[in-house]
Amino acid sequence: MNIEDVKTIGVIGAGNMGHQISTLCAMHGYKTTVTDVSEATLKNAEKFVDTYLPGRVEKGRLTQEQADQVRANIAFTGNLEDAVKDADFIIEAAIEVLDVKRRLFTDMDKMAPDHAVLATNSSAIVSSKIADATQRPDKVVNMHFFNPALVMKLVEVVQGPHVSDETTQITIDLCNRIDKVPVHLKKEVDGFLLNRIFGAIFREASWMLEMGVANHEDIDKACVFGAGHPMGPFRLNDLTGIDLSYTMGMEAFKRTGDRSLLPPPKLVDHYVKGEYGQKTGKGWYDYKK
Ligand SMILES: NC(=O)c1ccc[n+]([C@@H]2O[C@H](COP(=O)([O-])OP(=O)(O)OC[C@H]3O[C@@H](n4cnc5c(N)ncnc54)[C@H](O)[C@@H]3O)[C@@H](O)[C@H]2O)c1
Repeated sequence: MNIEDVKTIGVIGAGNMGHQISTLCAMHGYKTTVTDVSEATLKNAEKFVDTYLPGRVEKGRLTQEQADQVRANIAFTGNLEDAVKDADFIIEAAIEVLDVKRRLFTDMDKMAPDHAVLATNSSAIVSSKIADATQRPDKVVNMHFFNPALVMKLVEVVQGPHVSDETTQITIDLCNRIDKVPVHLKKEVDGFLLNRIFGAIFREASWMLEMGVANHEDIDKACVFGAGHPMGPFRLNDLTGIDLSYTMGMEAFKRTGDRSLLPPPKLVDHYVKGEYGQKTGKGWYDYKK
């Protein structure tokens, strides 16, 4: 199989990442079906497409005809089998919980065509922790998008020891087809490439916050106005989701036993209050104001 054989894409999870990844694939001509266990999330994803496309037409980025074609390319379903049964390439973007992902991959393996690639958008779970839940480990690969997926160009393609060169190449080619910039990680490494770098920045920023050296606004300002980052670590954390950081920190600690990877106390405070960042209207910053 090669990239020319990829015509139909299944996206699993319609949350923060899934709704944008599915829109992106549909915009680049792929017949895309997205599924979620939450009916409300699926409805929001559909609402997003029905707002986003007219906006693109208004801004002159798409003709009405192109927008109609993109809309026709994307379908929403609450049924996993409907999303994967005809898919040549599947991108899983469900919650960051290993057991959920393993279960999904076992099910998708049974439901999807034999040739289909099963990619995971996980931020931290390497595909070798999932691949053995399927009968096609050579086709299970990490394809790590960045948030917001419609805007951010980078995709990390991580080739674990079980992943075939063919799967890696198709995944890289798909990134190029959907106008992304793929980077090829030749080894599985905790946190992949960019999140390792940003994780180090966030840990140091949190340490200074916990020590009372500066408040989160000033730490963000230092990164924006001193280092030229488009946003500081706390603003970025609100965007990517405090719940995700919490889960990733806990999972990283469970995997490694390294206490420095545990979510810092002030982040845990937000997490237990249900303040997950932009998606809940409050996190490090208050978005309701
Ligand atoms: N948020 C980010 O910035 C970001 C960036 C890159 C990668 N990721 C990864 O993308 C994945 C999704 O993250 P998100 O931020 O979109 O999370 P999210 O919580 O916004 O969305 C996850 C969705 O998965 C759905 N879900 C749960 N179990 C499911 C199942 N069995 N089948 C189908 N859907 C199911 C949930 O209902 C939810 O809507 C995670 O693996 C995360 O690590 C997130």
